[in-house]
Amino acid sequence: GRDAAFATELTYGTLRAVGTLDAVVAAAARRPVERIDPPTRDALRLGAYQLLRMRVPAHAAVSSTVDLVRVVAPAAIGFANAVLRVIASRDFDAWIAELAPDAEADPIGHLALAHQHPAWIVRAFAEALGGDLAETTELLIANNERPAVHLCARPGRAEAARLAEEVGGTPGRFSPYAVYLPGGDPGELAALRDGRAHVQDEGSQLVAAALVAAPLDGTDRRWLDLCAGPGGKAGLLGALAAERGAEVTAVEVAEHRARLVTEATAGLPVHVHCADGRAVGRYPALPEGGFDRVLVDAPCTGLGALRRRPESRWRRQPSDLPPLTQVQRELLVAALRAVRPGGVVAYVTCSPHIVETHVTVVEATRRFGRPVDFVDARPLLPEGMPEIGDGPTVQLWPHRQGTDAMFLAVLRRTG
Ligand SMILES: C[S@@+](CC[C@H](N)C(=O)[O-])C[C@H]1O[C@@H](n2cnc3c(N)ncnc32)[C@H](O)[C@@H]1O
Repeated sequence: GRDAAFATELTYGTLRAVGTLDAVVAAAARRPVERIDPPTRDALRLGAYQLLRMRVPAHAAVSSTVDLVRVVAPAAIGFANAVLRVIASRDFDAWIAELAPDAEADPIGHLALAHQHPAWIVRAFAEALGGDLAETTELLIANNERPAVHLCARPGRAEAARLAEEVGGTPGRFSPYAVYLPGGDPGELAALRDGRAHVQDEGSQLVAAALVAAPLDGTDRRWLDLCAGPGGKAGLLGALAAERGAEVTAVEVAEHRARLVTEATAGLPVHVHCADGRAVGRYPALPEGGFDRVLVDAPCTGLGALRRRPESRWRRQPSDLPPLTQVQRELLVAALRAVRPGGVVAYVTCSPHIVETHVTVVEATRRFGRPVDFVDARPLLPEGMPEIGDGPTVQLWPHRQGTDAMFLAVLRRTG
């Protein structure tokens, strides 16, 4: 009901905005948030979110937050009351005007505070968008909206238009398999329980289907998903493989995630192996040159899916990048070794960070040392997709296509 919707908005919204809320709380309390004890700090964050970002009347937001402090930190009631009154004395825009760096002198810092993202992430987005700060702003706004849940109607088992009718959703704009859900708990849907569909962002569907759409001469029966957990793309690849008489080898290094892949692909021609994808040539299921199509959906920062994981933007750090990019390069080199000459590799991330996308691809193809061509990925996507760039790689964006910010490079091993 309405209480549940309020609680959801308050929780997700506060998590998403926490860096900006902390700047306001610190200014109002005249001390760094680290010096406020955690239960009181959390209550003040929730109060600040209601005051500045929800249409909760100030007296109600203050009194409900003070009631909360009374339970979690009774000694801080007076302090919390005073801080909340200062926060309530201005609206969100006035606080941003007071606290954010000057928009001319430090545009990234200004956007970061105003749109509730860490500055290093805003900088990475701006770089991936060619320095266009107006478009970067559109992206930040899109990242703060709660996205619809997307379903993938599994080819051969369900049809998107029918499924949309069944679940009260609408067919996706681009992916022939996508259905947008209006809300509610998708876990309760019969179509998910009986394996006709799975939850998957439309962008993820598009990049997995693009691997299968890449033109290929010769055999086309042995497909490999080198980073398969928890199994969203393996589910779609498996359904497509079943229609085409192909088989999928799905590799996942983490045991519990490998189990999820097994569950997600029940009844499909998918063979799951819990192994390190870099072990190509050293593991019987991963022979060198043994595959016609290979997907590398690499572990990454997930900066392209911030709208679906409200707190992740504040947990991620620039120091996450070096170990991730190292694994990404090693996995892509392994994929190029696993594919036969003439076969295709799709390198995918749900991050638009250039270091995880272009830099990884260039560096891995250099390290591979044998000839590789870029395949133009644009014609491998459904016709009519707007703003997919100049190729050969494709970067999708929440504010452009309404998908997560998936990156796709398709490579053909030529020797
Ligand atoms: C982005 S997720 C893949 C998502 C998956 N393709 C899907 O659509 O559901 C990356 C996965 O790679 C796995 N991984 C990380 N390092 C790996 C390695 N060296 N070999 C195989 N899998 C690895 C992670 O455990 C994680 O499950």
